[in-house]
Amino acid sequence: MMAMARVPEPEVMDGDLEVRAYRQADFRAVNLTCARRALRAADRAGAGSEGRAIDLGTGPAEIPILLCELAPGWRVTAVDASRPMLEAARWNVERAGLASRIRLVQGDAKRLRGLRRRFDLVLSNSLLHHLEDPAPFWREVRRLARPGGAVLVQDLFRPASRAEARRIVARHAGGESRLLRRLFYRSLLAAFSPEEVRFQLRVAGLGALEVRRVSDRHLVVRGRVRP
Ligand SMILES: C[S@@+](CC[C@H](N)C(=O)[O-])C[C@H]1O[C@@H](n2cnc3c(N)ncnc32)[C@H](O)[C@@H]1O
Repeated sequence: MMAMARVPEPEVMDGDLEVRAYRQADFRAVNLTCARRALRAADRAGAGSEGRAIDLGTGPAEIPILLCELAPGWRVTAVDASRPMLEAARWNVERAGLASRIRLVQGDAKRLRGLRRRFDLVLSNSLLHHLEDPAPFWREVRRLARPGGAVLVQDLFRPASRAEARRIVARHAGGESRLLRRLFYRSLLAAFSPEEVRFQLRVAGLGALEVRRVSDRHLVVRGRVRP
């Protein structure tokens, strides 16, 4: 059977309704799992109790906040291209009392030339599927990680069919607003398959990273950037 073709979606989330719907949704369980996975990846890469992470496409900064709560010695640079998302992030970071450890940066994760620092951990959740062309994103992931640094990128993967995408939306977002269910469905159609992600990584010189399906809808890319 032919795999379902990808239907890209708009890259930056800056519509008011979209931002509000995303902020109001409860992603805590997925976000907490992602923060824990990121810290385990950093641990395996030899990071100690103190470290620097960068979160690409941070949205409302919920993952940096969880990461800082789990690991009090860590600091995070949290990047998003959307001004309204960063406003939501600022509000959340201040409410969590973490403004001294989470730096918010408005920028395009595909070209962050102003950021020269190398990070112990490069992290991203649910950004990859927004990108029409992911090649520059992976080049930035490679450039931003210190030699031997950890990478943890989590995203949706594309289901085999639209019918399967509809089933996934009903299973995991049946109680959410219509707008959020539509966004989720569109994101599933825009997502890459694990095979496509493996190909992207090989092209970017990141072929040593592992790609695994970790649920009925998520894949995880993890490992270390070769020194
Ligand atoms: C689905 S949200 C995920 C937010 C967050 N990572 C989370 O898991 O809650 C995707 C985010 O990526 C941002 N984004 C999309 N393209 C981007 C780009 N090229 N550079 C930086 N951020 C981008 C969007 O504005 C949006 O806030």
